[in-house]
Amino acid sequence: MAANIVLTGFMGTGKSTVARLLAAELDREFIDTDALIAARHGDLADIFLHRGEGAFRDIERDLAAELASRDGLVVASGGGMLLDPEVADVISEGARVFCLTAESDTILARVISDKSGTMRPLLVGPDPAGRVVDLLAQRAIRYGSFEQVPTDERPPAEVVADIISRLDAGAADIRGHYAQSALIERVAAALEAAGHDLDGLSPAELAGFDEFHLGGHAATTALVDCLELGADATVLDVGCGVGGAARAIAHSAACSVVGIDLTPDFIDTARWLTERLRMQDRIDFRVANALDLPFGEGTFDAITMLHVGMNIDDKGSLMTELARVLARGGQLGIYDLMRVDDGDIDYPMPWAASASTSSLSTAAGYQEALKEAGLTVQSSIDCRQLVVEAIQALGGSAPAVNLGHLMGAGWPRMQENMISAFRRGIVSPIRIVATKPSETA
Ligand SMILES: C[S@@+](CC[C@H](N)C(=O)[O-])C[C@H]1O[C@@H](n2cnc3c(N)ncnc32)[C@H](O)[C@@H]1O
Repeated sequence: MAANIVLTGFMGTGKSTVARLLAAELDREFIDTDALIAARHGDLADIFLHRGEGAFRDIERDLAAELASRDGLVVASGGGMLLDPEVADVISEGARVFCLTAESDTILARVISDKSGTMRPLLVGPDPAGRVVDLLAQRAIRYGSFEQVPTDERPPAEVVADIISRLDAGAADIRGHYAQSALIERVAAALEAAGHDLDGLSPAELAGFDEFHLGGHAATTALVDCLELGADATVLDVGCGVGGAARAIAHSAACSVVGIDLTPDFIDTARWLTERLRMQDRIDFRVANALDLPFGEGTFDAITMLHVGMNIDDKGSLMTELARVLARGGQLGIYDLMRVDDGDIDYPMPWAASASTSSLSTAAGYQEALKEAGLTVQSSIDCRQLVVEAIQALGGSAPAVNLGHLMGAGWPRMQENMISAFRRGIVSPIRIVATKPSETA
């Protein structure tokens, strides 16, 4: 039977409406946890008023366990239900969880026009608008740990179509390729075994695995050097993995960085490592798909993307989405492995288990997609020499904690195949910098 689909998010983001439609579309059973609780225990406002929020959360916890024991459901969860990490873990086990999002104004307008005519219990008070803003800020980290689905100015049917497209095999393949169980525990154990103090980690101790691209830190630095980043810049790092490049960018340019990645294990680990390095004030990480970013138009002064495009077949849609969230005059810096010659490639590769799940392209393919998206290509450079020098600098010894700890037992084969394709001149890391024309251009 199919895994449960669970929708979370703040009140007024449309969880119940979307989940009901989604269930109908997928021919599955629909469950609204608030409605089920009301049917079993009475009116929710009364539970809050007479028994308190704690009692309500206890009821939700029991219900989470009950739903997790079933499958094939589409669940609209109460707005606060998955804020409890224990509940979130139980209900997420083997399920796909999506967090519906909306701006505070949208939420307030939807909640006020709610046909029930009564204000939701959490918003009762003199300043419901301020309360929405406060609660959204308080819940941002927990909600941000789930895959985000924007709902502003989108009819429910469009949100449903969006979710169905995300359920597609492509994204699942990518997650499945990178996901590793208990990743934080495994990384922590490897770091400790290498004699590193988890409370006093330095970026150098993570360098063997946290910048998951050829040339590692040297390649990130070279990319940052191509971008004009001021200290007040906001940078989006697309497909950030466990966040090494995002941290390096925030450190070297002293700017704010948001990292997004499709793989929840990587985002959890990125947050954990960033907290260990005490850099969480300037870096935010979210689970999101590069093809459907949960940000408004022109949000970022610059965008970086290192070794991600090999996972995304539709380069046209990718570049259009990146161009959308890039500010006018902003720069997009790409550092991806690209095909530079014909010839056989053996799989598994670090980004794909087989050719059928690989989306390796040529620099010309990228450039065409960038131009189609309205961006101007500034430069396109083969960084082969940078990688050769970075490998020489390692002196033949693998770092104590390395990508094998991130990617598991299959890593040696992936590494061997990649080095072979690189040495034979079939693939090479190419750095492309493109700009979004300013309004006056
Ligand atoms: C080879 S890793 C590179 C990670 C990171 N950029 C770095 O250099 O350390 C590729 C990453 O891209 C992410 N990814 C692949 N397709 C994605 C998509 N459509 N949206 C967001 N992230 C994606 C994967 O989950 C993985 O973390």
